[in-house]
Amino acid sequence: METNLQAQLKSIGLVTAGHVALGETTTFEKPVAITAAKLIGSNTIGAFTYINASCELWQTSIGRYCSIAEYVAVGPNEHPIDWFSTCPFTYNWNQRPGPFHEYEEYQRIVNKQAGPEINQQTTTIGSDVWLGHGSFIKKGITIGHGAVVAARAVVTSDVPPYHIVGGIPAKTIRKRFDDKTINQLLELQWWNYDLAPMQNKVDYANVQQVIDQLYQLKNDNKLQPFTPKQYTLTNTGRGLDIKAK
Ligand SMILES: CC(C)(COP(=O)(O)OP(=O)(O)OC[C@H]1O[C@@H](n2cnc3c(N)ncnc32)[C@H](O)[C@@H]1OP(=O)(O)O)[C@@H](O)C(=O)NCCC(=O)NCCS
Repeated sequence: METNLQAQLKSIGLVTAGHVALGETTTFEKPVAITAAKLIGSNTIGAFTYINASCELWQTSIGRYCSIAEYVAVGPNEHPIDWFSTCPFTYNWNQRPGPFHEYEEYQRIVNKQAGPEINQQTTTIGSDVWLGHGSFIKKGITIGHGAVVAARAVVTSDVPPYHIVGGIPAKTIRKRFDDKTINQLLELQWWNYDLAPMQNKVDYANVQQVIDQLYQLKNDNKLQPFTPKQYTLTNTGRGLDIKAK
């Protein structure tokens, strides 16, 4: 059954299903859909992007028109592997409280000295990206526009636009299109435009036809910027503060 909060979020363009845990801040464009996922830190999500169940997003910037399959992990935190211990008791005092924070046993040993900042890099996913089932994207990586990450891939380095990558560690399987087509798509940046003038007028399976149509509309000044409504949700600890941007 839809809760009051779910209904409120839906009315501003965020469709949620199941338990969605939102991080400190979530900035999104209308509309976005998130099913039973966990967001940690500050995340931004572009319009028409959906995130399926059991995903984790840590400090991530995601573009528009992305499809995120189930069990995808984007940018989980890295523990300091060259320190004395990878356990958070050595570094977590100034970070968000961990599961042991309330225990005297932990308070006696947790390192309370100001230490070096833990890696808080943002992970960046372009627009029109498809992240396949169970894929893992390492913190700080950039996935280029139009890329596809195969199911179960472990992505440890940047993925160029329109590449399809897979495996562990992920390597390019092939490109989605030839270089001329990719360059045209990157030049057009179609995700930044209102696509309404093309509705029911193009065959989306014919990529060159769609590209030609976009250039034509652009030349005729009939392509307008797409400026969806934007909202920021701030987790106050007692509830959500909702602000239009
Ligand atoms: C990546 C993917 C899109 C490729 O599809 P495709 O082009 O039809 O792939 P093919 O079956 O022709 O395989 C092409 C090559 O990629 C390899 N490959 C395909 N999927 C792979 C994967 N998940 N991991 C590693 N390699 C993979 C194939 O073994 C093949 O290699 P080869 O040329 O050496 O034989 C698809 O395999 C995939 O992973 N889909 C994700 C589905 C999903 O997660 N859906 C969730 C719904 S939101």
